[in-house]
Amino acid sequence: MYETQRSFLTDAARRRVDFSKTDQATGVAPPAQQKPVISGQEVFPLTPPGSWKGIEAVTLEQAIAGRKSHRKFLDESLTIDELSFLIHAVQGVRGRVSSVHTFRTVPSAGCRHALETYIAVHRVDLLDAGLYRYQPLDHKLVLLRRGDLRRQVAAAALGQAFAGYCAATFIWSTVPYRMEWRYGEVSHKVIAVDAGHVCQNLYLACEAVSSGTCAIGAYDQELADACIDADGTDEFVIYMAPVGKVQEHTIRTLD
Ligand SMILES: Cc1cc2nc3c(=O)[nH]c(=O)nc-3n(C[C@H](O)[C@H](O)[C@H](O)COP(=O)(O)O)c2cc1C
Repeated sequence: MYETQRSFLTDAARRRVDFSKTDQATGVAPPAQQKPVISGQEVFPLTPPGSWKGIEAVTLEQAIAGRKSHRKFLDESLTIDELSFLIHAVQGVRGRVSSVHTFRTVPSAGCRHALETYIAVHRVDLLDAGLYRYQPLDHKLVLLRRGDLRRQVAAAALGQAFAGYCAATFIWSTVPYRMEWRYGEVSHKVIAVDAGHVCQNLYLACEAVSSGTCAIGAYDQELADACIDADGTDEFVIYMAPVGKVQEHTIRTLD
């Protein structure tokens, strides 16, 4: 009964794909690496990599030892420097080949980066509460709508209240065509694998800002898509992660 789903986890689809017929192979122009900012939308610059203040000097060993899922957050805000650091950790551009080919802080199959990062801001210094999208090529946030989204996000996470009642909820969608352009039917498993790297970087980065997160894979697809105004076909939510300051933050070392 699980045959189809198990097959999805294998690389069997590769045998079915004629790579000479993908959009890339037939000369179709590559899709944009980020969604466009629409005229009139407000854009907020983030603190550039290396300029952020208040990031603890946590070693990689300590970050790995301390990483765990947190579901209880303090009422404190994140600073804009902390949010900038976290966002850079999940999708920051570390090298640019062209406007349609960038290297990020996370790996991606074929360097296609078929994910978009939305941030439902609940408590971040200098930012109004509301929905923002990260523009990796510009290291900026674009404001999509103002408002208190805590209840909507928690409902989208099937009533997991901590998913909305935190400082900021990261919501990742995929724009699958970015991967399909190169890989056709082989795309979908690797998009899911890519999302795992992104969230793990968030877990590790949280260790340097006295914060915690929890991967959210259980959510209502339609409610989650509605949170970010995704059409559910050409773009849809695949993962979420609330972030907030945590009480029990102690820098640990591996035993
Ligand atoms: C793909 C994925 C989906 C998850 N979905 C949820 C979720 O919806 N709700 C939740 O409370 N935890 C969720 N978790 C967190 C796991 O429950 C957690 O990682 C696991 O219990 C191990 O705990 P640890 O992360 O502290 O090591 C998810 C984790 C992963 C990797």
